[in-house]
Amino acid sequence: LKERCPILQFADLGDERGKLVVIEGSQAIPFDIKRVFYIYDSDNTVVRGQHANRESEFVLINVAGKSKVRVTDGKDEYIVELNKPMMGIYLPKMIWKDMYDFSTDSVLLVLASTHYDGKEYIRNYDEYLSIAKESDNHE
Ligand code: TYD
Repeated sequence: LKERCPILQFADLGDERGKLVVIEGSQAIPFDIKRVFYIYDSDNTVVRGQHANRESEFVLINVAGKSKVRVTDGKDEYIVELNKPMMGIYLPKMIWKDMYDFSTDSVLLVLASTHYDGKEYIRNYDEYLSIAKESDNHE
């Protein structure tokens, strides 16, 4: 799973004036960026995400503060703390994710490969498991 959802380290173009991180679609990350959103004003009492996407790939970056991401493919799972603006995690299609433990200053930036389409979301974990299992059987 760690190979499928790698941690990305972005180059630091900073100098004495401050830091600069650049993310170009299909260069620093494996897809063209069609959508950007960010999650902030969350805290350590909420769990967000809790879904998988049939079509979208994502890169998650805490550009400020920190949060944790738990990813699973229904078999393995792993947990990453996102706590550096130069670090991201890539999520391919059909990965289940939970984001939680947001610091109060957390700004979680998400780059997506698609425009928003609520129909491609799988929000029921049992349904996700049966779809993931089915596509495993067809590999
Ligand atoms: P939701 O998917 O619940 O956010 P999270 O990433 O925490 O799981 O999205 C919250 C609401 O925002 C929901 O009504 C759908 C809407 N939304 C959009 O309209 N466009 C988007 O790109 C996203 C991510 C969400």
